[in-house]
Amino acid sequence: MCGIVAYVGKKQAYPILIKGLKRLEYRGYDSAGVALIDNNTINLYKKQGKVVELENFASGKNIEGTIGIGHTRWATHGVPNDSNAHPHFSESNDLAIIHNGIIENYASLKASLEQRGHTFASDTDTEVLIHLIEDVQQKTQVDLVEAVRIALNEVIGAYAIVIISKDNPDLLVTAKKSSPLVIGIGKEGEYFVASDATPIVEYTKNVVYLEDEEIGVIQRGEELRLINIKNQEKTPYVQELEVHLEAIEKGGYEHFMLKEIYEQPQTIKNSMRGRISVDKGIISLGGIRDYEQKIINANRIIIVACGTSWHAGLVGEYLFEDLARIPVEVEYASEFRYRNPIINENDVVIAISQSGETADTLAAIKLAKDKGATIIGICNVVGSSISRETHAGSYTHAGPEIGVASTKAFTAQVTVLSLMALSIAQKKGSLSDSKFRQLLVELDAIPTKVEQMLESDKQVTHISELFKNATNFLYLGRGYNFPVALEGALKLKEISYIHAEGYPAAEMKHGPIALIDEEMPVVVIATKKGNYEKVVSNIEEVKARKGIIIAIITEGDTEVKKIADYVIEVPETEEALTPLLTSIPLQLLSYHIAVMRGCNVDQPRNLAKSVTVE
Ligand code: AGP
Repeated sequence: MCGIVAYVGKKQAYPILIKGLKRLEYRGYDSAGVALIDNNTINLYKKQGKVVELENFASGKNIEGTIGIGHTRWATHGVPNDSNAHPHFSESNDLAIIHNGIIENYASLKASLEQRGHTFASDTDTEVLIHLIEDVQQKTQVDLVEAVRIALNEVIGAYAIVIISKDNPDLLVTAKKSSPLVIGIGKEGEYFVASDATPIVEYTKNVVYLEDEEIGVIQRGEELRLINIKNQEKTPYVQELEVHLEAIEKGGYEHFMLKEIYEQPQTIKNSMRGRISVDKGIISLGGIRDYEQKIINANRIIIVACGTSWHAGLVGEYLFEDLARIPVEVEYASEFRYRNPIINENDVVIAISQSGETADTLAAIKLAKDKGATIIGICNVVGSSISRETHAGSYTHAGPEIGVASTKAFTAQVTVLSLMALSIAQKKGSLSDSKFRQLLVELDAIPTKVEQMLESDKQVTHISELFKNATNFLYLGRGYNFPVALEGALKLKEISYIHAEGYPAAEMKHGPIALIDEEMPVVVIATKKGNYEKVVSNIEEVKARKGIIIAIITEGDTEVKKIADYVIEVPETEEALTPLLTSIPLQLLSYHIAVMRGCNVDQPRNLAKSVTVE
């Protein structure tokens, strides 16, 4: 997700744009840029790095203009560098655009524009959009607003855009679909545009939130005009902002971690965006297309990662072995890199990393690469060190994860691993077509089921209240949910500082059962799929020792409900996809317990968001 900001009015635009971009840096910070109109010329400045790099680059330059646009980037297409930074010019340089979102059909649009003589300075989908708008304008001789409307009817994907034209220095054209965009209505005919209200609220509290497929026509000094892409006039609904700056950055949530937990229906959807077609029964992972045969023929897959990403890797082991029938080993990167592992060119190594900067993971893949292995990446930060070290990969598109405890990145990683395993299984023929389609339909339905999961928050909060003072927790799971038990325990440990252990449920008998007493809450993932009956007997074993059972169960399961002390229900889904649902209540449990214990949820003690040291 990126940050967009724009201004038109009586003041100099540049300081307003820069201040606004700094407010939006939490949305993305790999490059930034501004474009302003002065003397009927668009002057554009952009730079890789944080907004301060842009400021340094622009310092000393006489940047004038009372209309302008600004952008701070979270790369989706095209690595972070100066040329891929926004804003982007049209072919003639007469138009400039900023964009937050993903144009899914940009490749086909770009190809047809290139056939019409367009040349491109970047690898971005955004530049294609502004060239398309200008191409429409030139072909049909319509005004800019109509050209934008026609072009958006050809676009598939998500967008929040602002466009300026050197021929109309009083006009901002905005449009929105699936990405947020808010218009601030200032005094004396000035207007502000941004991804959220944080850059606006200090100037005005009167805002209009665009709805999907709406176009906002902002003419300096005139009333705001709204139309939709069907060319129907819409009446602007002006709201008065109540919230304060910090609250807006967190989207109204108390902490970034809670916001990111609640973003998961959207972020899981974004991880799949443009990569699956349920109707056609296909999965298309462009980032690994050239290496799929390599993966299919691999002797084995070695997954290297740390922390939560390592837990996602464990889920990946079950997915690839169960669905694609390829042997998988999951390695702590920090151990793998030092144990002189046996690796050769028939091995495929998958590196999983949210930040893409974890030192141990980076070192592990460099070692594997030197020994001839093929390296595939699953990262969240485009252009990160690990992603640049790989031969190929798929980004998770979860957007910046600010909370140190990883939540949406975990489910995004598991989503991408599910897509990879399913795609390879289909191409290998290790999965029947009917089973493949069944899993694909179910995967597509997961965001809605996660939405449903989040409704259990109140119940989880109640359970958190009862156990916030526990000194130890045990988390148990089997099969696909064994890694989820580990992840649930890590979440609790790292933000509430309560000691917690995750175990395969059957392993409890080999020692940990000695810990069970009436003070020990035992979280058991007991969904109806997999070794359900065995998990039920594990629960009985805990109960026999007066342990307290908090069970994650499938909706409607009355058997476990009878014996557990507390239950949290998850919607039914395919066994292979249960981690995407069972991990949600465990995230919420750790969050609420940590808040009740007065812990710093977003920045827990001793932890860093990215461990770039060894
Ligand atoms: C998880 O909540 C922690 N923040 C930590 O374990 C993290 O998953 C680990 O440091 C790996 O980070 P990465 O995904 O950025 O490589």
